Amino acid sequence: MQQATTNSFCIANLKMHGDLRFNAQLFEAFLKQIPADDHVAMVVCVPYPYLAQAQQYFQNTHIAWGAQNMSKETEGAFTGEVSARMLRDFGAEYVIIGHSERATAYCESDENIATKFYQAKAHGLTPILCVGETLIEREAGVMERVVDEQLSEIIAMYGAEVFADTIIAYEPIWAIGTGLPATPAQAQAMHLFIRNKITQLDEKAAQSLRIIYGGSVNPQNALQLFVEQDIDGGLVGRGALDVASFQGIVQAAVNS
Ligand code: PGA
Repeated sequence: MQQATTNSFCIANLKMHGDLRFNAQLFEAFLKQIPADDHVAMVVCVPYPYLAQAQQYFQNTHIAWGAQNMSKETEGAFTGEVSARMLRDFGAEYVIIGHSERATAYCESDENIATKFYQAKAHGLTPILCVGETLIEREAGVMERVVDEQLSEIIAMYGAEVFADTIIAYEPIWAIGTGLPATPAQAQAMHLFIRNKITQLDEKAAQSLRIIYGGSVNPQNALQLFVEQDIDGGLVGRGALDVASFQGIVQAAVNS
């Protein structure tokens, strides 16, 4: 795992974009145009069918790959599901868990998300846990309570030590895909809240936990976000579909 020396992460979430041809061009361009950096890890999270392609391009390079979801079950009669072990079979090292686009559209419960988080770790994957509030919740001023509840299920089921060597992505739902990111101050405040919560429960786990920000990160706003004390990089959707854009974001992480 990369965490020990890695200060920050730039993680591309391709969502349901791309195809063999598009990916080939994008992956080649990432490899050619975005240099390795000792302190910034790069990860590309692809749709399941393209895991083999990600493996083909990124194996033995400075770019790691992962999936955008996985089953909470290990094996069995679960039609349409993909297990952590299957992701590992294709060299995946990371998996996004509980992305709001799934949690809302597919009614994922906090308990499901907690089980997936644990299963991912148990199978040697680094889970990227997404947390964040809706616009209504932010306007009502209850965003910290919402995020606290999202973390609490995992803590109740597995203890805070489970956060060691994992990644939490703070993704305010109102900022995802809207072009309206959280301000650096808003994001920093939530990241600090998350870090303090885990630190109070398990200081050691908190040290290897990375907290990244997601929601309309682009090359123009990335540096302002990443220089904040508790923002350890970004989870990037739209801004990762274009090499120049993702390169700019990674460069911001390197400079921060
Ligand atoms: P966005 O998506 O960068 O397009 O806002 C981020 C995410 O949903 O992970």
